Amino acid sequence: MALSEKRRNRFFIPYVNIVSLLLVCISLLDKAVCIRISSQISDSVVDSPDRPLKSAVFALGSFWRSEAAFGCIHGVVRTTAGYAGGAKANPEYRNLGDHAESVQVEYDPRIVTYRQLLDVFWSSHDSRQVFGQGPDVGNQYRSCIFTNSTEETRLASTSKEREQLKSRSSIVTTQIQKLETFHRAEPDHQKFELKQHPFLIQLIGNMAEEELERSALATKLNGYAAELCPPRTQKQIDSRVNEIIRKDSDRKRKKDSVSSIDRTSEKSKEKKDDHSNKHRKKSKMASRDQVKASHILIKHQGSRRKASWKDPEGKIIMTTTREAAVEQLKSIREDIVSGKANFEDVATRVSDCSSAKRGGDLGPFGRGQMQKPFEEATYALKVGDISDIVDTESGVHIIKRTA
Ligand SMILES: *[C@@H]1O[C@H](CO)[C@@H](O)[C@H](O)[C@H]1NC(C)=O
Repeated sequence: MALSEKRRNRFFIPYVNIVSLLLVCISLLDKAVCIRISSQISDSVVDSPDRPLKSAVFALGSFWRSEAAFGCIHGVVRTTAGYAGGAKANPEYRNLGDHAESVQVEYDPRIVTYRQLLDVFWSSHDSRQVFGQGPDVGNQYRSCIFTNSTEETRLASTSKEREQLKSRSSIVTTQIQKLETFHRAEPDHQKFELKQHPFLIQLIGNMAEEELERSALATKLNGYAAELCPPRTQKQIDSRVNEIIRKDSDRKRKKDSVSSIDRTSEKSKEKKDDHSNKHRKKSKMASRDQVKASHILIKHQGSRRKASWKDPEGKIIMTTTREAAVEQLKSIREDIVSGKANFEDVATRVSDCSSAKRGGDLGPFGRGQMQKPFEEATYALKVGDISDIVDTESGVHIIKRTA
């Protein structure tokens, strides 16, 4: 992963609303001391006995995206990525057998109905694509509604008929299947979109994994991180985040103007300011200074984190020298440049980054968001060009600038 993992923890930071849920964190001597004030609902009361929640399970392609598609819907309290619809007893991400990647949606039926969730289901994927979604091809990405009552089955069937009527030129492939067991996926796959934005994780106080998985706020922000909130909500959260960033940089500016100069501490402050500034731009979607890139990462002995989805225990990475990784990547690069291989296909198969799943796509980013050498190499490329070998703390990369 080229996203800098460095800035995690330490700093303060306040945060934000769900329906106007307010979390205020106060910075004391740069230590994270968070005081959460909830004006309406807080994470702990959302499923109190007088607010019984219901749960629904859907499969609509990659569960990273599925979680995000439902997370921002008003009335959805919690989402969980998992596996359903198969017979395999203990499905795992790299060994899920006949299951489909799925999302379990816990919702407050007084705010949002099952019927409305079905609408979200249909509008969040292409139900006519056979055997996958976009670049994600395979049975695990099939489209399915898992029902757990006759009423749900009835509503699901009606909505499928309605969907099919929209066009007869192709068949809606969605299956409607009785829900047997929903198997929760591994922590790495929960709130995946949110985890690609360390800044937002900081903003909500670096919750422990367990808390993050249950948090209604994290659920909502996961949708925001993927830019899948309804436009109005997306905007509201944007402006809230920007406000916090502005206050924070003002506070830091004041502090910096009275602080004496110690080279290393100055450096880390610059980093933080840089980070805040870029994020302000990012959340405003002011894309002037943004680039977009895909990459192929090969990890080696010198990589900071010696494991990846391909090699969870790092057995291969630990025995790969940097030179061997560079050789491998050079030959990959040649194949791509000569037209023998396709960048996205190769990324999907070999890249040691979780972006492999999206053909290496990292999405748009601005300055200060990626490790420096990665940023510089990307900014130096013309759109469509592929970089030479780039070294970062993550490993060796080739980068394709896509916008
Ligand atoms: C199906 O619904 C029942 C009753 O509401 C519930 O107890 C059960 O946990 C549900 N099954 C799954 C797999 O979620």
